[in-house]
Amino acid sequence: EIHEQPESIRNSLRGRLLLKEGSAKLGGLEPVMDKILQAKRIIITACGTSWHAALVGKFMLEQLARIPVEVDYASEFRYRNPIVRPDDVVFVVSQSGETADSLAALREAKSKGATVLGIVNVVGSTIARETAAGVYIHAGPEIGVASTKAFTSQISVLSLIALLLARHRGMSEEQGKLLAADLHSLPDKVQRVLQTTDQIKYIVEEFKHVHNFLYLGRGSNFPTALEGALKLKEISYIHAEGYPAAEMKHGPIALIDENMPVIFIVPKDAIYEKVLSNVQEVKARKGRIIAVANEDDTEIARLAEFVIRVPRTYSYFGPVVNSIPLQLIAYYMAVARGCNVDQPRNLAKSVTVE
Ligand code: AGP
Repeated sequence: EIHEQPESIRNSLRGRLLLKEGSAKLGGLEPVMDKILQAKRIIITACGTSWHAALVGKFMLEQLARIPVEVDYASEFRYRNPIVRPDDVVFVVSQSGETADSLAALREAKSKGATVLGIVNVVGSTIARETAAGVYIHAGPEIGVASTKAFTSQISVLSLIALLLARHRGMSEEQGKLLAADLHSLPDKVQRVLQTTDQIKYIVEEFKHVHNFLYLGRGSNFPTALEGALKLKEISYIHAEGYPAAEMKHGPIALIDENMPVIFIVPKDAIYEKVLSNVQEVKARKGRIIAVANEDDTEIARLAEFVIRVPRTYSYFGPVVNSIPLQLIAYYMAVARGCNVDQPRNLAKSVTVE
């Protein structure tokens, strides 16, 4: 399923990305477009990997469409008597469309009068049926308990929504075309990163006996760090934590020593220099650094013990490309440790109970 992603992302974008107009066409949202356009706030609620995709969606919607977005764990949202107004738009993100907490959150938001929409993979699933409208991600059946292709397809669909809203909210056609072209290039960029498997296997051999991992990133790569850590936990049973890179100095940097591998997601974006200084902080404390960095980055190699190269892309869409090496690390680590990659212990593909 990791290697299906060039195709699954193409399927998520197919017929929806308008390259010539620099916009997107989402038929599933047309019945509620007026509600979406007049919304003063968007709430996105989900669980697990889908919640990580929701965090990336917040980043894109706020940066591109300048609309306030709140992201909530569905399990928290449903019990908090949340403040939801009738003019709110609530997106429920769910691969299976059957997650109990997400379904309950959907019903809670609906009971308070909001327009509730789905971003779902399984056609005809309960969440899909109970939302007013929505967008199917068309990732194809995802069998592995650890979500991979659904994650990148969820982000692809959220990117389309952000582009569509941005163009309705003042983004120029020219800027829209640049973003649409970058989105269109994602499948080929993902294909390029999938060629790094030999390097990933080498790195995994080096670290397969460790007991802890830290994943650090900023901006849209903070959720990427969270997702990378979740993948490793889920299928290799190694404890891993995703953290905002700048937050390390507020405590967790005490964990850094020569036994702590730290994976930095450090693309050459607007905050590259800031993340690079975080890399230096970890190096100064003898942390072992693995960097996911761009192909044209000439500085990172003097700081990181291992550098996994990924193509450049707009920071908004970076998680799609930057998460691929993290999925591969989790996969090969699980294989090296003799774990059942497809059916990890204690886990179910869809958590239909509380
Ligand atoms: C992801 O790898 C996990 N299997 C899990 O966190 C999953 O994302 C979560 O249970 C939500 O599932 P859903 O997307 O089907 O609602």
